[in-house]
Amino acid sequence: MTGSLRIRLLWWLLVPLAIYVFVTGKAEYDNARRTADLVQDNTLLASARMIAGEVEWADGTLRVDIPPAALEIFASPYGDQVFYNVSVDDDRLLAGVPDFPSSASATVSATHDTPTYYDAELHGASIRAIGYVRRMYDNGATRRVLVSVGKTQASRDAMRRELWRPQLVRQLEMMLLAVALACIGLTFELRPLLKVKDEVMDRDPMQLEPLRVDRLHTELRPIVDAINQCIARLGLQVAAQRRFIADAAHQLRTPLTLLDTQLQYARQHRELEPSLGEALAAMQRSNRSMVGLTNKLLLLAQAEAADYTQLANQPVDLASIAKSVVEDLALFAQKREIDLGAELDESAWVIGHEGLLTALVSNLAENAIRYTQRGGHVTVAVRGGAARVALSVTDDGPGIPAEARSRVFEPFYRASADTEGTGLGLAIAREIVQAHRGEIALATGEGEARGLTVRVAFAAASTVAA
Ligand SMILES: Nc1ncnc2c1ncn2[C@@H]1O[C@H](COP(=O)(O)OP(=O)(O)O)[C@@H](O)[C@H]1O
Ligand SMILES: [Mg+2]
Repeated sequence: MTGSLRIRLLWWLLVPLAIYVFVTGKAEYDNARRTADLVQDNTLLASARMIAGEVEWADGTLRVDIPPAALEIFASPYGDQVFYNVSVDDDRLLAGVPDFPSSASATVSATHDTPTYYDAELHGASIRAIGYVRRMYDNGATRRVLVSVGKTQASRDAMRRELWRPQLVRQLEMMLLAVALACIGLTFELRPLLKVKDEVMDRDPMQLEPLRVDRLHTELRPIVDAINQCIARLGLQVAAQRRFIADAAHQLRTPLTLLDTQLQYARQHRELEPSLGEALAAMQRSNRSMVGLTNKLLLLAQAEAADYTQLANQPVDLASIAKSVVEDLALFAQKREIDLGAELDESAWVIGHEGLLTALVSNLAENAIRYTQRGGHVTVAVRGGAARVALSVTDDGPGIPAEARSRVFEPFYRASADTEGTGLGLAIAREIVQAHRGEIALATGEGEARGLTVRVAFAAASTVAA
């Protein structure tokens, strides 16, 4: 049986408790019955003794005055009927009902004179009765007086109930309390497990650090350890895959470069076969885009593998990185008739990897120049604050529609099919920003809801060191 842990634990608790309550309840019931019977029998004995005490000789004959107390002793709210019978030598009736049933053993024990208790029927009611013998002496003659008292059983039954029920109720209450406490306790004690669940669920898919296991029950620790081992294996697997991509990209570069040189050479001899010229030029174009793709793949693999703690732990000046990128792209911008500007602070120090940060600024600026129409403006800005360093690349091009913004960071996603590209630029940018524990966001750029601004923020080097 699987299912809810709560229900299973409740079964473990409820079934034994129910058996316990049943067994002890039965014992309590027997006890209550015995006690009620004993009390009833004792009252009957007291009543019979009182009546027998009033039997006396008067003028040679026996007579009896039934004392009121002998009957009042049975008074109860349950309205029991009381019967009595006083007879001499088993035949002469002194007082009471004539047809009082006698017990079979009463006659047997008549010689012993011990009180005899028995159950009987009288006037259609079942009664409990006592037979009590008193011997009266007169002039050497002995008279045997039998006092019988009987009563219906309502008060005894009530007593049984009153003795037994509260016990049962208390035990049932205890059972309910145990169940309630078990439920509450379980809810509390399951919280760490739910916390572990949340921690697993809230994870970034590529977050491969082990789960924190502080303040966890010893019983849950093996589960978390197992999850952590699984995460560690996954981490190794992911690292191996990244290494493979990086290696493959690296390996591809040499033959592709070689191919480029060979194509170059072939084109120089195109006069031998003029019709080949076109084809060779096309081959060289696709070869160059293949080189571009390979380089981007390599960069992406490097950015993904970059770990903040392993980044060259040196302050680098993002302002001067941006400056050199803008200088490098000036020619490209000029060709595309884009006004490329820079708004840079004197310096803006961050902790990080110079090569990767250069690739970041370069990818963003290149996108802005590439996707902005001729005559457009692109501005690269770096502002170094006390706590944060902000990089922004703004253009007044077509921008990215809101619905595509979440997707452009995915590898190979391209919103503009008509221009050349790999779809890796923004994926690389995001990986680099994440490796530096920064934030990257897209916003609408300059000029009335047009253009794009990519904003990146890093912690300033001074705050990281502090
Ligand atoms: N500055 C920008 N203005 C308009 N569209 C952009 C800009 N930057 C990126 N994009 C869109 O985002 C997509 C993904 O960009 P990117 O990852 O750099 O790949 P690629 O440039 O190789 O296509 C691009 O195809 C383009 O449609
Ligand atoms: Mg790009």
